[in-house]
Amino acid sequence: MQDTHRIQIHDHSFVPLISEADVQARVRVLGQDLAERYEGQTPLFISILSGAFVFASDLFRAFGGPCEIGFVKLASYTGTRSSGEVQTVMGLDEDLRGRHLVVVEDIVDTGRTLHFFLEHLRTQQPASIATVTFLRKPEAATFPVPVDLVGFDIEDKFVVGYGLDYDGLGRNLTGIWQLA
Ligand code: IMP
Ligand code: MG
Repeated sequence: MQDTHRIQIHDHSFVPLISEADVQARVRVLGQDLAERYEGQTPLFISILSGAFVFASDLFRAFGGPCEIGFVKLASYTGTRSSGEVQTVMGLDEDLRGRHLVVVEDIVDTGRTLHFFLEHLRTQQPASIATVTFLRKPEAATFPVPVDLVGFDIEDKFVVGYGLDYDGLGRNLTGIWQLA
């Protein structure tokens, strides 16, 4: 199915954007880059579920040195405030004080998710926070968030694959596919 030039998920078709080979090559470079930055340290990777688990798994193994990983789920509620959304953090049990944190995201779209999560992390007094996202849609950024490493900048079109889903499907595609 992934060798064809078009796939169907629910009511939409998707065409190839980034091949599996290009994904893997880029992730290796990102992992090596991080290994150089954190030489002599033991960073704690924090993967935001669900979408980032595939990227985090590869990035974590592309990182050469000692490191740990934790997972966090952010739950969104549509609230009555004008901001429209309230989020809570679940599953982050590690003591973050004094740790070097590497936040791993699948995609930064509006930046809302990362913006909120970074605010939360800063209250935990880590030694440092770096953010890595596999994809970024620069035109869509409405919440300015610092991103230290980016896999690929893409245009503002919906994509699936490599952890990213459309209504639950498409996460296991090994490359990135774009809405046709
Ligand atoms: P944010 O707008 O930067 O907060 O992104 C929120 C979340 O929306 C991301 O972490 C993804 O899970 C999801 N998302 C944004 N753009 C896409 C896309 O093109 N495909 C699949 N999920 C997306
Ligand atoms: Mg996500």
